[in-house]
Amino acid sequence: MFITFEGVDGSGKTTQAAQTVSFLRDCGYDVLAVREPGGTPTGDRIRQILLDDVATADMNPRAELLLFCASRAQLVAEVIIPHLEAGGVVVSDRYTDSTMAYQGYGHGLNLKALKQVNDFATAGLRPDMTLFLDIEPEEGLARRIAAGEDAGWNRLDAMALDFHRRVYRGYRNLVLAEPARFVEIDARADEATVQERVRAALAEWLEIQR
Ligand code: TYD
Repeated sequence: MFITFEGVDGSGKTTQAAQTVSFLRDCGYDVLAVREPGGTPTGDRIRQILLDDVATADMNPRAELLLFCASRAQLVAEVIIPHLEAGGVVVSDRYTDSTMAYQGYGHGLNLKALKQVNDFATAGLRPDMTLFLDIEPEEGLARRIAAGEDAGWNRLDAMALDFHRRVYRGYRNLVLAEPARFVEIDARADEATVQERVRAALAEWLEIQR
């Protein structure tokens, strides 16, 4: 089983993914948690370039795309596929849908080309289930500021709100296009409530898989 979490910045995805991993482990699954970009020594180096470096503030969107996909290719080959093949569950904080939403809908790169690059990078590996944490970008960004996460503020966060609105609309289109894979979670609530919703959705989905 390959499960991914998606959503705009500040949707609470990272916290929810971590709590979901604990839940699945308690259910007896052998769960590997990964995050994107990063998750391998190579990917972590790429992550530094993508997120931390002021010197890369003017990075071209196509260059950025290829770096995200380079990190993903390494992660899929080095850790995701071996774990799935060993019968384990993989939970990823972001995956190919982030590329479609951010580089495609956000930056306006060609969606068809992105699908091909994603498929190439992942060797065609798609998630079995994707939890979309649904919250408007204004609320997500406000939440991060309120949580005092300014220290974690990075180059990608700092882009105009307009960009994040396009990303959000992009996610909504992706969900509509693949209703069987996506599960929408209303993320406008406190952490515990959202986690309850995630667990309910997962339990239902696991039941169907049986
Ligand atoms: P991160 O610090 O992981 O943010 P978050 O906690 O919101 O996940 O940074 C990830 C950033 O990278 C986020 O702004 C989304 C962006 N991103 C892309 O633009 N394309 C991608 O393919 C991926 C995986 C992430």
